Amino acid sequence: MYRTHTCGELRLANAGQEVTLSGWVQRVRDKGALIWIDLRDRYGITQLFLQDGVSDPKLIEQARSFGREYVLQAKGTVVERESKNPNMPTGEIEIKVSEFNLLNASKVPPFTIEDESDGGDDLRMKYRYLDLRRNPVRRNLELRHNMAILVRNYLSNLNFLEIETPFLIKSTPEGARDFVVPSRMNPGEFYALPQSPQQYKQLLMVAGFDRYFQIVRCFRDEDLRADRQPEFTQIDCEMSFVEQEDVLNTFEGLAKHLFKEIKGIEFDKFPRMTWHDAMKYYGSDKPDIRFGMKFVELNDVAKGKGFGLFDGAELVVGINAEGCAEYTRKQLDQLTEFVKRPQVGAGGMVYIKYNADGTFKSSVDKFYTADDLKKFADKFGAKPGDLMLILCGPAMKTRKQLNELRLEMGNQLGLRNPQKFAPLWVIDFPLLEWDDETQRYYAMHHPFTAPKPEDEYLLDDPSKWGEIRANAYDIVMNGSEVGGGSIRIHDRVLQNKMFHTLGFTDEQAQEQFGFLMGAFEYGAPPHAGLAFGFDRLCSIFAGADSIRDFIAFPKNNSGRDVMSGSPAPLAKEQLEELEIKLDLKDQKA
Ligand code: AMO
Repeated sequence: MYRTHTCGELRLANAGQEVTLSGWVQRVRDKGALIWIDLRDRYGITQLFLQDGVSDPKLIEQARSFGREYVLQAKGTVVERESKNPNMPTGEIEIKVSEFNLLNASKVPPFTIEDESDGGDDLRMKYRYLDLRRNPVRRNLELRHNMAILVRNYLSNLNFLEIETPFLIKSTPEGARDFVVPSRMNPGEFYALPQSPQQYKQLLMVAGFDRYFQIVRCFRDEDLRADRQPEFTQIDCEMSFVEQEDVLNTFEGLAKHLFKEIKGIEFDKFPRMTWHDAMKYYGSDKPDIRFGMKFVELNDVAKGKGFGLFDGAELVVGINAEGCAEYTRKQLDQLTEFVKRPQVGAGGMVYIKYNADGTFKSSVDKFYTADDLKKFADKFGAKPGDLMLILCGPAMKTRKQLNELRLEMGNQLGLRNPQKFAPLWVIDFPLLEWDDETQRYYAMHHPFTAPKPEDEYLLDDPSKWGEIRANAYDIVMNGSEVGGGSIRIHDRVLQNKMFHTLGFTDEQAQEQFGFLMGAFEYGAPPHAGLAFGFDRLCSIFAGADSIRDFIAFPKNNSGRDVMSGSPAPLAKEQLEELEIKLDLKDQKA
């Protein structure tokens, strides 16, 4: 038997017991007369000890030969520690060793396996299996497991069936780029890896399964960020015979259940906001509502006073940073620099300080009297001591820039506490989104999303397409989009109309979505669904910004797995078998 207990298990109550532990050497402390070894496994650390002159000299010699990450079996007696460590669950005991079995030696690890590691990102990615030995990363995966179990049980209790859908599917041009897989048996033809099981889950509704879910890997060839991986996991769901309200309530229920079980937090109803309001008041379709600083539109007080920039702008809009009137020149310059960065793209920033003594100081004093500035302050509901920050320009663009500034102020003022949770439904998304580059409309969500019935008639008037609202919704937490879904079109005529709106000819629609369209002719029920981004959900529950450490083996920012070395060129024979001709000069060796 390799072990009687884990390294996280023994307590004072076990004192006197003979035990066997197995694990990795965290460190050896050799004080001459006394030697301690911290033995670690997934469950914790237990201290082993030996005493010169008391323990068998052979054991002492063995102990001195052990290096970090050696794999050991240790047998011994549980004894009460003289100096206890209240910070460790096993801190009241130690093991007086009577026998060691070296199970495996280890090279010196390239970084320390501790909560705060000295390894940089690249090194930790290269030796991910060592990084996974560290508590913080291990805990993330434990959280992920616990969440997955809760999700499965919750949905299963509501009659949802987990059904697997294929990974080798047909490429569709909508959405992000597909990862593709060549078919050996069908030379020159390719599968695509699913960006989501969207069409299959809709087919399952046609098949009568009624309530489907799947914790499923999805693949998207898009640019990576902290909250995006090329392969990620969704909690993908679909339901039949439901309206939007049913879907929102079902998945709000799931989210509340997770908050209660994992964080011990009970939520009342999640707030809801229309997409239109989210853009108007936060400049984002995923507002972080952990803090206020709602946008205030200022055209009526800003224009007509001879300040050309405001006069000529479509929108003058700002936020009020409470209690920030003391910001220094340097801090204000830094904020101006922040909004002028190419990633934000504003031309500049106007500030108005509402000083504690009731006077005003602004960067536009030349154009506005104190009375004028008081009108700004009234619009903002500002008090003496506050700082108003204002941007101007084309409406949507300026709102997005102000969103960045608002989030930056939220960060600076410590208002984005990762242990505080602010879920929000954003509803009534636009159905279509204009793309300047290709000069056509795209489905904002996907081509199967239904317009609001009351807006459906607008499909007949191309000049109104941008105004059509969809029965589409996102669930947002702490400024991150953790899920989204919609009511689907189940009527073939409407679906055809939608394809035409998106610029597909009948043939193209048939070619790309024919199987779904065909299925819809055999009695498609009204249906709707939603998918949570599972990695994102886990990272938010843990209060982390990046999803990377919630995935056991993630890709780096260039989409590489530096540990296994993928992607990599294929052998010539493999390419030949697939009948793929590459100019091999272009390939890296
Ligand atoms: P959507 O494209 O909004 O919807 O995706 C659902 C959720 O998946 C997460 N997500 C990602 N997470 C990590 N890395 C990525 N690259 C990534 N891309 C998306 C987000 C997002 O909210 N089929 C529809 C759902 C439906 O309509 O039912 C879909 O895939 O948290």
